[in-house]
Amino acid sequence: MTHSPIRLGMIGAGGIGKVHMEVFEGIPEVELAAVTDIYLPLAQKRAQEHHIPVVYGSPGELLKDESIDAVVIAVPNQSHAPLAIEALQRGKHVLLEKPMAIDSESAKAIVEEKLKSGKVLMMAHQMRWSAISRAIKQKIDKGDVGTIYNAKAGWMRKKGIPGWGSWFTRKDQSGGGPLIDIGVHMLDLALYFMGNPKPISVYGSTYAEFGPQKQGIGTWGTPNWEGYYDVEDLASALIKMDNGSTLALDVSWAAHVAALTEDPYLHLMGTQGGITLYGSSGRYVTHANDEVIESDIQPLEGEMDRTLLSRHFVECVLEGREPITSAITGYTNNRILDAIYESSRTGHEVKLHWE
Ligand SMILES: NC(=O)c1ccc[n+]([C@@H]2O[C@H](COP(=O)([O-])OP(=O)(O)OC[C@H]3O[C@@H](n4cnc5c(N)ncnc54)[C@H](O)[C@@H]3O)[C@@H](O)[C@H]2O)c1
Repeated sequence: MTHSPIRLGMIGAGGIGKVHMEVFEGIPEVELAAVTDIYLPLAQKRAQEHHIPVVYGSPGELLKDESIDAVVIAVPNQSHAPLAIEALQRGKHVLLEKPMAIDSESAKAIVEEKLKSGKVLMMAHQMRWSAISRAIKQKIDKGDVGTIYNAKAGWMRKKGIPGWGSWFTRKDQSGGGPLIDIGVHMLDLALYFMGNPKPISVYGSTYAEFGPQKQGIGTWGTPNWEGYYDVEDLASALIKMDNGSTLALDVSWAAHVAALTEDPYLHLMGTQGGITLYGSSGRYVTHANDEVIESDIQPLEGEMDRTLLSRHFVECVLEGREPITSAITGYTNNRILDAIYESSRTGHEVKLHWE
C-alpha cells in the first residue's frame, strides 16, 4: 500500500511536464522528489523552479530510485511504452500523458505490464475533468439524454501545427498528426459520455495539405526547420459501436475551415435529449409537445481540470482504485486510431476484434 506523501518522479520537463509540476506542487499528498529529462539543463531548471531536490541524468536512474512511489511520464509519444513498462516493472504507479502509445501494439504491452504489476496506470485526459464535462456527465447520468445513438466530435484548428519538424510531426516519434495529438482527447471524451461502447468498425481518411508545405504553423512547441513532416494535418472518420451507435470524428491542425471557433466540440444525440459542448460551454436540447426546447448547461463549480485529474491519480494510488481514464480506455483509443490510419491507407473499412 502506498502512503501519503506520494514521492513523485517527473520524467520529461518540457511543455506539459512543467504544467504537471505546477499542479502537483499544490497537492499536499504529493512530494516532488526527482526530475529527469534527456536535456539535462532543462531538468535542472525545472528542479530550481519547483524546488525538486534530485535531478537524474536519465529515466533509468530515476526509476531505479526505490524511494520513488509514482512517476509522471510526459515525453514524446514513442517513449511512452518503453518508459511506462519499465516504471511498472520497477513497482511505480504511472500517470501517463496521452496518447497511451505510438500504436496499439505498444499500448497492449503497457496494459499487460500494468495487469502483472498491480500498480495504478492512469491516462492524462484532463478534458474529462473540465467544469463543463463534469456537468454534462451529471446530466447524462441523471437520464436527461437517454441512450446516446449518435455523436459528432471534433477539433478543427485552422493554423495550429505544433513544433514543425520536431517529434510532433515525425511519424516514427509521434505516431501521427492531429488525430493522435488532439483527436485522441475528443475520442476519449466522446466514448466516456457514450458509456464506453465497444468500437467494432472504423472507416476514415487522413490528409496532409499544409504541413509538407511548411504552412499552417501554430504556437505550441518549438519548430525545427532542419526536421521533417510526414504526418497528416486533417483526419475524418466514422466509428461504429457494438450497440449500434456511431461516432463521427473530425480533427485538423491546419485547414481551410471557416468555423466560428477553433474550440473542441462534441454533439451527443440521445433518445431523450441532446447535448452540445463547445469549448467550455454546453447546451441541452430536448423536444416537448413537438417543440424544440434548448437551455444552457451550467458548468460545475470546483477546481481546474488538471488539479482534479491529479487529485484523482492521488486517490487511486492511495486507495488502490482503478482510474476512470484507465489503461483499457487508453488501449481502446489507440486501437481506434490505428484503425483510422489503416482505413485511410487501404481505402477500406477496418473491423475491430476484441480478445
Ligand atoms: N494532455 C494534454 O493536453 C497534452 C498537451 C501537450 C502535450 N501532451 C503530451 O505530453 C507529451 C510531451 O509533450 P510536450 O508538449 O511536453 O513535448 P515537449 O517536446 O515540450 O517536451 C518533451 C520533453 O521530453 C524530453 N524527452 C524526450 N525524450 C525523453 C526521454 N526518453 N526521457 C526523458 N525525457 C525525454 C525532451 O527533452 C523534452 O524536454 C506528449 O506525449 C504529448 O502528446 C499532452
